Amino acid sequence: MANNDGLKLVDKDESGVDTKFRADILLGLSQAQKATPARWLYDDAGSQLFEDITQLPEYYPTRAETEILSSQGASFAEMIGEGRAVVEFGSGSSVKTPLLLSAIAPAAYVPLDISGDFLRAAAADLAQKFPGLPVHPVEADFMRQVELPDAVAGYPKLGFFPGSTIGNMVARTAVDLLRNMRETLGVGARLLIGMDLIKDTGVLIAAYDDAAGVTAQFNYNLVRRINRELGGDIPLEHLRHEARWNDDNARIEMHLVALSDITFTVDGRGFAMKAGETIHTENSHKFNRRTSNMLLLASGWEPQARWLDSAEQFSLLLAEAKPNRSAP
Ligand code: AVI
Repeated sequence: MANNDGLKLVDKDESGVDTKFRADILLGLSQAQKATPARWLYDDAGSQLFEDITQLPEYYPTRAETEILSSQGASFAEMIGEGRAVVEFGSGSSVKTPLLLSAIAPAAYVPLDISGDFLRAAAADLAQKFPGLPVHPVEADFMRQVELPDAVAGYPKLGFFPGSTIGNMVARTAVDLLRNMRETLGVGARLLIGMDLIKDTGVLIAAYDDAAGVTAQFNYNLVRRINRELGGDIPLEHLRHEARWNDDNARIEMHLVALSDITFTVDGRGFAMKAGETIHTENSHKFNRRTSNMLLLASGWEPQARWLDSAEQFSLLLAEAKPNRSAP
């Protein structure tokens, strides 16, 4: 796949294997604590399983954030104002994005996504729901600084990054991303970002280890993908899904725990796990007012407003990219 600049966004070898996927998995499985980047959970089956997760009774974040977006429209309109180009990092969701757009009457909508297929589908959906709103999809890796279309150069910008996806990054990566967003959008831009809140551990664990086992399947799907795409023989029946609360880092971790001593191969390389050893597959950081403010400030964004859902489970924050200035 190539973007407008002819840059390759996904590199495949002659057998059609994503070379970055292979490198990340082989490196991750070679470490003392096996760990794989969470982005590889999202092939087609994984993306569908995540959609299913958002409908689960235990998985509150999607409902809580949607409640904020549907109930705080007047407040968004007052704080953000009309006539901005809304730049969404990731393809717009069919529910959340229209709620924001109808509240703030934007001048244009720019969805950014690395997946051209998702991007085109989301852009077409939005264009149909908002006839007359200019939609300028950009196929790009939003983890890096992105060149926005000339058509939106004259508008003030609002970045939109819902879902607490920022929580899936360790602090260093989250700061890199937020700084790149600042470069992409420019000084004076605003950012509306979702961050899930620290809460009762039982509620958090249930959200990531649901009774129907959908999140377990989401985790197992990574193993199926590795076995299928990288010619692996990881014995899935000897692995168990686990969601853990890591209090020092304020995050839920997803792990695959070995039920017995196992050996397996991936891409012709041999690996071993002792019973109880794990593959760490995802982090989902949770925040409070101070830690979310600190993360934004550390990345050049000054917090301006914060909204919670009625059960106070999830937060949406508005921040502004202020010019750098000397301060004590
Ligand atoms: C996409 N992301 C914000 C989800 C989360 O809650 O961290 C991914 C997820 N993993 C398991 N359940 C949901």
